[in-house]
Amino acid sequence: MLTPALVVDLSAAAHNIAAMQRRLARSTARWRPHIKTVKQVNVVRELLLAGVRRFKCATLPELRLLDSLARDHAGDEGLDILWAYPTTAAARASLSGIHLHPDAAVSLLADSPRHLRELVAWARTDARPWGVYLDVDVGMHRTGTPPQGWTDPDTLAALAGTLTFRGLHGYDGHHRSEERSLAHGAYDALVELARHLGLRRDHAVITSGTHSFEHALLHEGLGAGPWQQEVSPGTIVLSDLRSAPAAEALGLRQAVFVAARVISVGAGRVTLDAGSKALNPDVRPPHCQLLGWPALEVGTPSEEHLPVSGPQDALPQLGELVWIVPAHACTTVNMYREALYLRDGAYAGTGKVEAAGHPLWVEGHHD
Ligand SMILES: Cc1ncc(COP(=O)(O)O)c(C=O)c1O
Repeated sequence: MLTPALVVDLSAAAHNIAAMQRRLARSTARWRPHIKTVKQVNVVRELLLAGVRRFKCATLPELRLLDSLARDHAGDEGLDILWAYPTTAAARASLSGIHLHPDAAVSLLADSPRHLRELVAWARTDARPWGVYLDVDVGMHRTGTPPQGWTDPDTLAALAGTLTFRGLHGYDGHHRSEERSLAHGAYDALVELARHLGLRRDHAVITSGTHSFEHALLHEGLGAGPWQQEVSPGTIVLSDLRSAPAAEALGLRQAVFVAARVISVGAGRVTLDAGSKALNPDVRPPHCQLLGWPALEVGTPSEEHLPVSGPQDALPQLGELVWIVPAHACTTVNMYREALYLRDGAYAGTGKVEAAGHPLWVEGHHD
């Protein structure tokens, strides 16, 4: 095997999925995992095998990946997909250009009342039914409109034809695991909006990724309906260093690694072939941990090199294989086109990371 290589332990992923499902069994909330972390059919299949049918995605390739699985599961319960990212006009033109499977119920986000009007105008030109979630800015200030911007009753009245209101989406990725009261303040405002808009049993209020889903599950109002509560952690399927509090609480196993080799040995230093193009350093250091080498300190990567220092007698040898746990699984997975799989501790084949990267052209148009 060449290195650096992306290695995914499918047994560990299945274990993590089951752990999340056990946690949700103590709540009325449903799980809508975000597949931006895994981006590959072979891991999404583990979610489907476990009975998960609701998903979030962020890009068109991720949506197409889910759609391809809806095709496989035709006749079964259909997939419910939320493209949890504000669509541009070009993205919507792509949606009009592809034939999504009828068993895939796809919803879009309305970022603001103005964006909602754009969706309404586009939907008039498109025969397919689409769900719509209002994106509520619950304090992250990344997308969406603050709750007070969604209270005008005329906003929802504008939804017509092939667009159906499905509920509220309030993503709070800025809340850490120790910030429960801040998170609960944001959920209070979301619940007030849900009540104001008269959300019913067939609507959902969706919040939270890996760092704050536990806050959402412990918030009384979010789960008190009549709407359905949903949470959307995705990183927990693979786990990484950043998700340590959730990993500990749920008993997660590490399911993604970068396999690297020692390519250079110096005094008190070795260099691995997993630089910033193999292991994303987009988080505060340390951006990774070497499995089974506790005495070693990870240095600053360059594009193809990762220097590591430590006592001379505790360094790996030239050519030795080293397993690395990324601090941020999502952006690391996105760097690979292929993954090597393990199951029950043994080699279990390889597969593509189908949804890595971004396409250039609008579907059906090359201009
Ligand atoms: C809108 C949205 N939902 C859900 C998630 C999943 O969060 P996590 O990767 O922490 O599990 C993210 C992560 O960035 C997100 O942006």
